Amino acid sequence: MSKMVSVARVEDIPSGSRLHHDFEEESVIVLNVDGEFFCIADLCTHDGGPLEDGDVLDYQIECPRHGARFDIRTGAVTRLPATDPIPTYPVKIEDGLIYIEEPEPW
Ligand code: FES
Repeated sequence: MSKMVSVARVEDIPSGSRLHHDFEEESVIVLNVDGEFFCIADLCTHDGGPLEDGDVLDYQIECPRHGARFDIRTGAVTRLPATDPIPTYPVKIEDGLIYIEEPEPW
């Protein structure tokens, strides 16, 4: 069963910013969009590029390599060339800390 892990304080990720976090096997990005936090895999399903530096617009992150887009709320592909969704993970705020679900290896 996956566990929730504290990765930052709320004030560490202001609105419009993001945090990269490495687990033992997987890497994720925690994003703050207008005060709402989301967590996605830092791995584009098109060709394995990192998404960390991708632009975010309307809850979509764009892969810097070939322009695929994913919905950060669901992981769904919203623009080719990717065709498979990316993993997303639950986020919980408690006592000013941001917790995310530790990813299963994918
Ligand atoms: S690696 Fe992301 S679009 Fe190609």
